[in-house]
Amino acid sequence: MRSLSNIKISLLQKRTNPFLNYLHRPLQMASTISPVSLISSTTSSSTFPLKFNFPAKSPSTVNFRANPLTAANAAASGKDRVLGRRGLVFTLTTTLPLLLPFSECIEAFAAKAVESDISEYELVKEEIRKVVTKGKAAGVLRLVFHDAGTFQVDENSGGMNGSVIYELDRPENKGLKSPFKILEKAKSEVDTVQPVSWADMISVAGAEAVSICGGPTIQVSLGRLDSKEPDPEGKLPAESLDAFALRQSFQTKGFSTQELVALSGAHTIGNKGFGSPTVFDNTYFKILLEKPSSGSMIGLPSDRALAKDGECLRWITKYAEDQDVFFEDFKKAYVKLVNSGARWKSL
Ligand code: HEM
Repeated sequence: MRSLSNIKISLLQKRTNPFLNYLHRPLQMASTISPVSLISSTTSSSTFPLKFNFPAKSPSTVNFRANPLTAANAAASGKDRVLGRRGLVFTLTTTLPLLLPFSECIEAFAAKAVESDISEYELVKEEIRKVVTKGKAAGVLRLVFHDAGTFQVDENSGGMNGSVIYELDRPENKGLKSPFKILEKAKSEVDTVQPVSWADMISVAGAEAVSICGGPTIQVSLGRLDSKEPDPEGKLPAESLDAFALRQSFQTKGFSTQELVALSGAHTIGNKGFGSPTVFDNTYFKILLEKPSSGSMIGLPSDRALAKDGECLRWITKYAEDQDVFFEDFKKAYVKLVNSGARWKSL
């Protein structure tokens, strides 16, 4: 296990090596599909053991591979006069011997870049763990929904873009200044080594909040860009909505009814009466089943509304019966939530 100072040193080294930075971004974090890879999947290379996506227009890859072929084709078709025999010999003798060492060199860089990507994640995680205690986890997790939950598929607006930091005075964000301040401290520590966006910071912090409280381990991708302005207002669902309206609201953000129910399971932490406020488990669903029409002391109106809807109730029952299924579905829906509407660093 490497110490944090070692991680910081290796990240600082990375900052001084532009080529490593160039390679760094397209590499995949284990077990997650980065949107970067989706964008560049047509140019992905399978030459390396690691999934490595070449940028679409890399002079070093396109020209390097194209020249010898162009030269050989030209020679075979008698067009070597165009290139010139000397040109052909020069191209072959200069580029071919470089092919092997170059691929080895790329592999070494790729390995280093993976290490560096992991280091960056570890650094962000470490700083978050210093400030997010079990007691503060609920507020931090709520911050994720209030940043990402503004996403509107049709309008292509809002989403996981760090804009919540400009929206803290909105009535629906009451109480979120405290988790913001906690994360601000961690972010400033990370920024001294490797600048991180608010969107990445909040995404990782929510995942760690879940894990700190005993929920599933969630790993998210890094590389989100921050918005420089607040998102449009009125995009988060109100707690007074009925199940139909909640389902519609989540649909506009690209989420199914099942994902709405799984994500609402986040209310298992916090002080709305679903078991221990600091334990992330499936008590939320168990209590919704046990007391579907209980008084207003347990849960929000929106939580109780879910239990009155047939399809939601089927998912509530499933998650109440099997915590592992809830954890697995929550994990997937969480990763989707923190990727919604996100803009990513380009290659
Ligand atoms: C389904 C629609 C949702 C509605 C209407 C809703 C609304 C609310 C409201 C009104 C509160 C109480 C805030 C307070 O104590 O003042 C709350 C708390 C909370 N929400 Fe949601 N929420 C929803 C979905 C989500 C989602 C998707 C997540 C995260 C994935 C989330 C995470 C939380 C957490 C962790 C708390 C507890 C915060 C604390 O105790 O500090 N919520 N929510």
